[in-house]
Amino acid sequence: MKVTISVIKADVGGYVGHSSVHPKLIEACEEKLQAEKEKGNIIDYFVARAGDDINLIMTHTFGVDNPEIHKIAWEAFKDATKVAKELKLYGAGQDLLSDAFSGNVKGMGPGVAEMEIQERPSEPIIVFMADKTSPSAWNIPLYEMFANPMNTSGLVIDPSMHEGFEFEVLDVKEGDSYRIPTPEGLYDLLALIGSISRYVITKVIRKKDGEIAAVASSQKLSLIAGKYVGKDDPVMVVRAQSGFPAVGEILEPFAKPFLVEGWMRGSHVGPLMPVAMHQSNVSRFDGPPRVVALGFQLSNGKLIGPRDLFDDPAFDEPRRIAYEIANLMRRQGIFEPSRLPEEELEYTTLPMIISKLKGKEVKKVEHSDVD
Ligand code: F6R
Ligand code: MG
Ligand code: MG
Repeated sequence: MKVTISVIKADVGGYVGHSSVHPKLIEACEEKLQAEKEKGNIIDYFVARAGDDINLIMTHTFGVDNPEIHKIAWEAFKDATKVAKELKLYGAGQDLLSDAFSGNVKGMGPGVAEMEIQERPSEPIIVFMADKTSPSAWNIPLYEMFANPMNTSGLVIDPSMHEGFEFEVLDVKEGDSYRIPTPEGLYDLLALIGSISRYVITKVIRKKDGEIAAVASSQKLSLIAGKYVGKDDPVMVVRAQSGFPAVGEILEPFAKPFLVEGWMRGSHVGPLMPVAMHQSNVSRFDGPPRVVALGFQLSNGKLIGPRDLFDDPAFDEPRRIAYEIANLMRRQGIFEPSRLPEEELEYTTLPMIISKLKGKEVKKVEHSDVD
């Protein structure tokens, strides 16, 4: 059967500050999705969270970008916002950029990752959710999972993966999208996705048969709104096993913590720490950035799970290493490269400071040619 998996996320109020989600907001979303399940509009759902973001994981048969499904998510977030306002939670409703819903939540604040698939006889999927970072946080792990045989030995060993995968890459500044096949286009791919503030992997497709392997959200709130309106914390869905990377190959990139944009005030560089959902409460310097991985088996669209995949001692050491990297970056304080370069800052006082200093400009001293 054809099933659509829709993961739609938003931050509609932090508890406390930007650190976590109040349980009552989760309950408000669950109530809404349970009612929609009973009406037969969705097959199943799970309401998850990462840091201060609520992630609605839904299955249905209406395909991607369906207005009814997006409306359900919008209304769930509206219900949660109402509770957030009652409790005076921090930044209540911050990711809902408009009062009225206009048919698709894309461009209205929430982040979206959706795929329509023919459910296999057994269909393991992993939903990744990150907080205090941006969509390009998935560039390294998606490259590792689908193009690096040193990470995914299946690319070499499994005949159904051996042809490789094609990557769809979005230029978030120009709005152009490129399709890059690997392994032959590997260096082209890396040339682009190494520019993490501009190029974002949005989709991965298996070359052999065009089957979708992974989808990632690419909403850049700062670009949508033309001004800083909240973090664009990303989500993604990855299919596992039998011709896709194994669950362990999909998790492996997160065992070697790497640096991402985000953290305090969305204006720093920090390690992405893999954590269990119950550990995804940011603290130190509003971080470090976190990633949660929930595994499900699909059964005729029903979500069997989740299994909280980073809730494992095997990820204690990556967490410790991420913390070491956090220490190193914090030592650098407000200085680049701990702080993002000027054009990437989500907050800046620089123009104000420069114009203030202009008034006190010291006349340039002319140097003579003679020593
Ligand atoms: C980063 C984030 C936080 C806030 C910080 C300041 O994504 O959400 O680090 O930027 O706590 O928040 P305000 O400006 O709301 O006081
Ligand atoms: Mg927040
Ligand atoms: Mg967030």
